[in-house]
Amino acid sequence: MQEVLAHPQKGSGEGIGLYRNGYRSHGLDFWGLKPGSEVVHFFNQMASLPWTEFSVLELGAGTGKNIMEFVRRDVKRAIAVEIDSLAMATLLDVTVKLEESGLLPEGRIALVKDDALSFLKHNREQFDIVVCYGLLHVFKEESVLHQVIDAIRQIVLKSGYLIMQSLTDKYPAPDIQPELKGVIMNPERIKTLFGPENWSLLHWDETDIVHSHAGSEENHRHGSVRAIFKHCSASK
Ligand SMILES: C[S@@+](CC[C@H](N)C(=O)[O-])C[C@H]1O[C@@H](n2cnc3c(N)ncnc32)[C@H](O)[C@@H]1O
Repeated sequence: MQEVLAHPQKGSGEGIGLYRNGYRSHGLDFWGLKPGSEVVHFFNQMASLPWTEFSVLELGAGTGKNIMEFVRRDVKRAIAVEIDSLAMATLLDVTVKLEESGLLPEGRIALVKDDALSFLKHNREQFDIVVCYGLLHVFKEESVLHQVIDAIRQIVLKSGYLIMQSLTDKYPAPDIQPELKGVIMNPERIKTLFGPENWSLLHWDETDIVHSHAGSEENHRHGSVRAIFKHCSASK
């Protein structure tokens, strides 16, 4: 074990969360500190929400660029679920630094290193806001994707919000990201699964993502869907 810890570069591959290489090479810089555009849109549109009364869950939280924005707004409770150990270690390190510098009250954020579906199966709590940013395209089996989405539908409180982004199957996976082969998510699926019954669609954006990743100069294109839904029916 000590031998392994002494040689962290020996790890390889994208890991079960698909993004391990990025975390290994770039840490916090891989996704950066700015929240996703749909999260920014939510804050702009909902500026007057009573944040301190809200509980927020992010599934597939990465290194925390979204959940930390909610924490900054003093939400009552924040939980970050992330499967990748390196991403979670980075998020834990950030949390420790903020707590030690007195910028974040201890216990404000809970960090859960777990598979989202496993977490959802055991979780009994409902949340005012669920963030699912960049996660759903990771699930390439119909049955698993459906289980995850079904579970998400159950944990958003009545009048609560789901903020999501997912890559879609619009383009083939770029050569530099073979791990994205086999994505089954598409916009119609999202619209069907979160509406129209019991969910109102507050915002929808299907703009492609054209970008390069840290460590690669090459620009590539992804189909993407970003959406904000509000849960309109009683969920208990
Ligand atoms: C595209 S990244 C987005 C990270 C973060 N939400 C953000 O917007 O910066 C997707 C994240 O989901 C995590 N992930 C993948 N599969 C997961 C699973 N089954 N359960 C929990 N997290 C998962 C990955 O490790 C990765 O950190």
